[in-house]
Amino acid sequence: MAAHRLKVAILISGRGSNLQALIDQFGPAAASSPIEIVLVLSNRPEAFGLTRAGRAGIATKTVDHKAFPDRASFDAAMDREIRAAGAELVVLAGFLRLLTDGFIAGWHDRLVNIHPALLPAFKGLHTHARALEAGVRFHGCTVHFVRPEMDTGPIVAQAVVPVRPEDDENSLGLRVLAAEHRLFPLALRLIAEGKVTVEGERAIVRDAAFAGGILFNPLGA
Ligand code: GRF
Repeated sequence: MAAHRLKVAILISGRGSNLQALIDQFGPAAASSPIEIVLVLSNRPEAFGLTRAGRAGIATKTVDHKAFPDRASFDAAMDREIRAAGAELVVLAGFLRLLTDGFIAGWHDRLVNIHPALLPAFKGLHTHARALEAGVRFHGCTVHFVRPEMDTGPIVAQAVVPVRPEDDENSLGLRVLAAEHRLFPLALRLIAEGKVTVEGERAIVRDAAFAGGILFNPLGA
């Protein structure tokens, strides 16, 4: 009998480069995958991520937030589509609407987001500009379970990139994005393989290798 594959719905709003990284690892063309992407859902009909999903042969839906009188009814409509698709985990991959507490509670510890900063630093928007402004020497991205307070929740995995003196928002953002494309599939694989549990407000990851050593930036003369 084939091993259980975790059924995942991915929510997007735009270009979907993270979605593409997930399709490459877990999509219908992947040789073997612990994940089945059962739905890609967008709040914007023109999101390029819908095209990426369609090309890969993955079911897509648009639930346009503009068609609903309030956030609760919009979230309820999304929730119906996600549950109808049989999803067991919901993944936010560049989904640009704030979710209601009710939706988040309904997917407690089964709702994952990627944020382009090393949380809890630089919550919110414009993370790369703010990292440059703060003068930090390392920046990165975080995959975490979602809690009602924005950009909080148990951290599953993080990737670190150096900040270089010549960086601008664009160059730093591209470096972080490349890290996101590696981190997100890695984190979802750990979840799908049952290696991640939430204890209190911390995610515990078992049977994974953890990096050692100290990183320095700058490196000296
Ligand atoms: C990424 O930077 C992600 O961290 C943030 O939104 C962006 C989405 O980019 N949540 P893409 O649509 O995956 O290309």
